[in-house]
Amino acid sequence: MKKSKTSFFCQHCGYMSPKWLGKCPSCNGWNCFAEELVTDPDSGGRPDLVFGGKPLPIFDIPAEEGMRTVTGIAEIDRVLGGGIVSGSAILIGGEPGIGKSTLMLQVMKNLAMSGRKVLYVSGEESASQIKLRADRIGAQAKDLLVLVEVSLEKILEQIRKIEPAIVVIDSVQTVYSSDLMSAPGSVGQVREASSRLILAAKKSSIPLFLVGHVTKDGSIAGPKVLEHMVDTVLYFEGDSGHAYRIVRSIKNRFGPANEIGVFEMRDRGLQEVSNPSAFFLAERPENAPGSVVLASLEGTRPILVEIQALVSASNLGMPRRTAIGVDHNRVSLLVAVLDKICGLHLGGSDIFLNVAGGVRVEEPAVDLAVVSAMASSFLDRPVDARTVILGEVGLTGEVRAVSQIETRVKEAARLGFNRCIVPKTSTASLTKTAKMEIRAIVSLKELLETLF
Ligand code: TYD
Ligand code: MG
Repeated sequence: MKKSKTSFFCQHCGYMSPKWLGKCPSCNGWNCFAEELVTDPDSGGRPDLVFGGKPLPIFDIPAEEGMRTVTGIAEIDRVLGGGIVSGSAILIGGEPGIGKSTLMLQVMKNLAMSGRKVLYVSGEESASQIKLRADRIGAQAKDLLVLVEVSLEKILEQIRKIEPAIVVIDSVQTVYSSDLMSAPGSVGQVREASSRLILAAKKSSIPLFLVGHVTKDGSIAGPKVLEHMVDTVLYFEGDSGHAYRIVRSIKNRFGPANEIGVFEMRDRGLQEVSNPSAFFLAERPENAPGSVVLASLEGTRPILVEIQALVSASNLGMPRRTAIGVDHNRVSLLVAVLDKICGLHLGGSDIFLNVAGGVRVEEPAVDLAVVSAMASSFLDRPVDARTVILGEVGLTGEVRAVSQIETRVKEAARLGFNRCIVPKTSTASLTKTAKMEIRAIVSLKELLETLF
């Protein structure tokens, strides 16, 4: 067979070279060349789009939201925005061992049980290993087909032949096309394999799951290079040391982004956690200094999480600052605000922050809880155990509004909290209830007066 034309591209700036180069002459980056197929420039990044048409009035464009297939695993259906859209490409990333294959097999099992023919392609495990896992999670269905294959051409041929209702590729880093010389797992291979799989899936309206490993050292091309090609990107959060796993949608063309699904890894696969707030607060030490509860909004769902801070005198010239689950830079900023505005001099202290349960909280509403936890630990005074704190903090120590306060306060009330400390500017949209005391504040000074 005649080989297609390939070239080497700088993965940073796109510089093209017919040969592999160690250093990019254009952006001076090192070791950033990967072999890729030279494709028709008209096709852009998305293989399924047709270019060269005329502009149309928006009224005349048919809306084609494909049919949705419900998986029966409520947490996954919600993360996907209400089920799997036909013809959509879904990337599911995470560290090795976090549970990607397990989750996929569970989804496949549910779909196969409801009479759909599904194809699970694995390039990582042998059929008997997959069988062992399937036995463990009770995936016994005649419509669940397993194919152990790494050749892209053969996988495509099988998809054409079998015409499954859904395809899983586990993992995309093992698939390799003989059109490219570069090794499986390289950027060029991962991109080429994915774009051809996505094209095939779109053409026949088969939903496609691409499993991608994320490695810390970046030795294999990460799922990052695929994010723009797929419709939905899901990532596993948490680490394999913890029992629970969070699946978060980073991008979703067919639903809300940032939605999370919470699971617990048990001995018979991943179990859904339908009441995550109670789950995350289960081991909370009550009345311990440094522990504060926050009502965070993950996608459309409010979740209560515990922020823990440990502030202790440092004997290092440069005190240690460690933040797990919250933004490190944000914490530095809040330490500075506490120092300058409230006169709490944390400069000489080691500060450790953690969101209990391995959750990540990325919204600004976490600020006030972080400040409260640090102040509580520093002063060695506990925060009332039935209080939830939320709000954004500005550089002058002012407390700023947060979104959807009503939803958050309701979740706090549901879990038996009786006081919320919230930004004053958010309270306008809040209806008063007898059970919940709302304490509206405008500044950090007021916060500290209220708490201690
Ligand atoms: P796996 O799905 O193989 O991870 P990935 O595909 O992301 O690399 O998950 C593997 C881990 O999950 C492994 O350490 C074993 C554990 N596990 C359980 O604890 N219970 C189970 O029922 C299964 C199937 C796996
Ligand atoms: Mg796996």
